[in-house]
Amino acid sequence: MKLKHTLLAAALLGANAFFFAAPASAADNCKAEITGNDLMQYSVKEMKFDASCATVEVTLKHVGKLAKEAMGHNWVLTSTADAMAVANDGLAAGLAANYIKAGDKRVIAHTKVLGGGESDTIKIPASALKKGGDYTYECTFPGHSALMKGKLTFG
Ligand code: CO
Repeated sequence: MKLKHTLLAAALLGANAFFFAAPASAADNCKAEITGNDLMQYSVKEMKFDASCATVEVTLKHVGKLAKEAMGHNWVLTSTADAMAVANDGLAAGLAANYIKAGDKRVIAHTKVLGGGESDTIKIPASALKKGGDYTYECTFPGHSALMKGKLTFG
């Protein structure tokens, strides 16, 4: 019984340590950082911003080593309903256009396509977002959006 209690206490301490060490959410108030790697993965699957943010700032860092021609990553924000079509239409746009169709009004905000070691920070005015809107971010590099995507909420 004593051992059981000791284990329980250790488990609780462990849980608390994790709780305090982990950020409350992927977004720190009005800013968030996300990384992409050489395994075609984003580090963050969800970003939550408070609707009181006048501006939302997102930094994408490519922490891999591969060139953008081989393993490029961007961060493209759209409504969830538009995400798949925006990625599909971006395929033909090419790297120089960051794999985004010219003049695509469905794109709310986006970073450049990055290669290993590069980063890009963008600012999104609150006026571009609706409170409670359903948003998706994704990498529009060909073939990446199926794995590289996440949810963004503003509310
Ligand atoms: Co990518």
